[in-house]
Amino acid sequence: MALLINNTRARYGLAAISLHWLMALIIIGMYPLGLYIDSLGYYDAAYKTVPHWHKSIGVMLMMLLVVRVLWRMMTVQPKVLSHSVVQKRVVKIAHSSLYVLMAVALVSGYMISTADGRAIAVFNWFEIPALPAVLDEQEDVAGLIHFWATTTLIILAGAHALAALKHHFINKDKTLSRMLVSTGRA
Ligand code: HEM
Ligand code: HEM
Repeated sequence: MALLINNTRARYGLAAISLHWLMALIIIGMYPLGLYIDSLGYYDAAYKTVPHWHKSIGVMLMMLLVVRVLWRMMTVQPKVLSHSVVQKRVVKIAHSSLYVLMAVALVSGYMISTADGRAIAVFNWFEIPALPAVLDEQEDVAGLIHFWATTTLIILAGAHALAALKHHFINKDKTLSRMLVSTGRA
């Protein structure tokens, strides 16, 4: 059995599978980390470290999202395994919405962090410069957008995961297994 790097019309390849699970795990971890930041007071010891990790990991996610979107544009997409036209449409809309929400969550996070003109030090390794603020009270407005975009993203991803489990255990089709392993006939 060959290891597939690229997608085919029947399966996801190793690149799409790795990017999907790496980003899903990080995003799910980032949500409670963000809520924890919100509960911290200025004088808590963790105030000096946890926001720094959240922002640094967030910048990594932004880079992964760019790679993922470019990769997706360069490779074919496997056919959706639902029979009805309506279900196929719903799946496509859900996947596009997940991409839009990821982008809004990441850009709003960047806009909170750089609202005061400060660059983001990524793991004290390199810096992402701040662009000039574009909104009045940018920190607060972007903070509100960030909370709602990330919350909607987590809820939609939860529904998406339940749909994948339904396909696996009730419809008994390959929807989940082809997102887990990349070997098989091309
Ligand atoms: C998809 C990835 C991300 C998720 C799931 C996420 C999640 C969250 C959540 C749930 C909060 C708490 C919001 C609140 O209670 O109001 C938060 C706060 C925050 N996030 Fe993110 N975040 C992500 C990416 C980013 C990125 C890329 C940055 C910056 C580069 C960032 C910067 C911040 C900052 C600075 C706060 C504190 C805001 C405040 O205290 O008002 N986040 N994040
Ligand atoms: C924050 C978490 C998640 C995000 C943002 C996310 C996002 C996506 C996106 C955008 C796709 C479309 C394919 C692509 O372009 O890569 C996809 C496909 C898929 N995801 Fe997720 N996902 C998440 C979590 C999960 C979880 C927890 C599961 C399973 C328990 C799951 C199972 C699947 C499956 C099976 C597919 C393939 C669907 C098909 O072929 O029609 N995902 N996901």
